[in-house]
Amino acid sequence: MRIGVMGAGSIGCYVGGRLAAADVAEVVLVGRERIRQEIAAHDLRAVDMGREHVAPAARVRFETDAAALGDCDAVLVCVKCAQTAEVAGELAGVLRADACVVSLQNGMHNAERLRARLGERVVAGVVGFNVVSKGEGVFFRGMSGPIQLEARPGARRLAGVLRAAGLEIELHEALEPLQWTKLMLNLNNAVSALSGAPTVELLRAPGFRRLVAAVIEEALAVLKVAGIAPAALRGVPIGWMPTVLRLPTWLVRIVTRAQMKVDPEARSSMWEDLERGRLTEVEQLNGEIVALASRLGVDAPLNRRIVERIHAAEAAGAGSPRLDAEALWAALT
Ligand SMILES: NC(=O)c1ccc[n+]([C@@H]2O[C@H](COP(=O)([O-])OP(=O)(O)OC[C@H]3O[C@@H](n4cnc5c(N)ncnc54)[C@H](OP(=O)(O)O)[C@@H]3O)[C@@H](O)[C@H]2O)c1
Repeated sequence: MRIGVMGAGSIGCYVGGRLAAADVAEVVLVGRERIRQEIAAHDLRAVDMGREHVAPAARVRFETDAAALGDCDAVLVCVKCAQTAEVAGELAGVLRADACVVSLQNGMHNAERLRARLGERVVAGVVGFNVVSKGEGVFFRGMSGPIQLEARPGARRLAGVLRAAGLEIELHEALEPLQWTKLMLNLNNAVSALSGAPTVELLRAPGFRRLVAAVIEEALAVLKVAGIAPAALRGVPIGWMPTVLRLPTWLVRIVTRAQMKVDPEARSSMWEDLERGRLTEVEQLNGEIVALASRLGVDAPLNRRIVERIHAAEAAGAGSPRLDAEALWAALT
C-alpha cells in the first residue's frame, strides 16, 4: 500500500515513522518545511518507551504540498482539529476516488467535517496513546494504547498494514462511544498544560487527581443529561474513573499499572502546544463539554474555567503557567 500522512507532526510522524521503519508500506509524509529539514538531518526516529524505530531519511518521502498524496491508497489525517476543514479542501482536489481517508485526531467532529468534502470513504479513528516531538527527528510515544478505527470499507486493509508495523489496531462498528471515552481522558490535558506536570505526576499527586476527578465527574454528569454513554476503558466503566482517582495513591498505582504503561517523561500535547506558542485544542475537548452543557441548559463551571484559563495562557504566549495543584484548584473552583 502507499500510505500518506496529511499533517506530519507528532502523531503523523510517529505512525508514518513506524510504517517506514518497518518497511511495510510506501509512506508519503506531508508537513512543514521545519520538520522536513529535521528528518533530512537526523532520520525519522519513532521512539516507543525505550525502543527506537528508525526510518533513514533516504527512505522517507517528506513533502510540503498535499498534491504529493495524489496516488495514495490511504491517507491518515493528523492535523489539529482547527485545520481539518482546510485540509479536507486540499485533499478533495488531489486524492484518487478510491483512496481511503482516516482521521487520527482527537475531538468529536473531524470525520464529519472530512466527510462533508470527501464523502463516505472517511474512517474515524481514535489514537489511544500520546506522542510528543522532541526535536532532531525524534517522536516520542509516552504511553501504551491501541489505535481504534471504525470498521468501514478500506479500514481492514489499512489495519493489516499498521499491524504489520507492530502497532496495536482495533476495529469497531461504532466509534462514537470510544471517542467520548477518549474525550473524557483528554480532559486532563488542560490540567497538564496549566501545571506543566508530567502525566505520571498527575496520577501520583493527590491534589492533581482530586482536580482531574472533579473535571471528569462534571463532564460525565453533562453526558448523562444528554443521554450519551461513553464506552468502557479496557473493560472498566469510565464512570468509575473519578472514584478510582480519589483512591489512596498506592491503590491508584496498582489500578493504573494494570491499565496502561506511562513513561515518566510523558506529557500532553496541549502542554506542548502552549510551550510552542500554538493554539490548543481546548475548544474541542473541555469546550465540547461546555458547549453541550450550554445546549442542554446546564452549567459546567470547572470545564468552563479551564477553557478560559487555557485561552488566557494562549494569549499570553509564555508557555505553561506552571501552576501547582493547590494554585490550580484555587483558580478553578
Ligand atoms: N500528540 C498526541 O499525543 C496525540 C494523541 C492522540 C491524538 N492526537 C490528535 O492528533 C491530531 C494531531 O496532533 P499532533 O499532536 O500530532 O499535532 P501536530 O504535532 O501539531 O501535527 C500536525 C502538523 O500538521 C501540520 N499542518 C497543518 N496543516 C497543514 C497543511 N495544510 N499542510 C502541511 N502540514 C500541515 C502542522 O503544522 P503547523 O503547526 O505549522 O500548523 C503540524 O506540524 C490532533 O487532533 C490531536 O488531538 C494527538
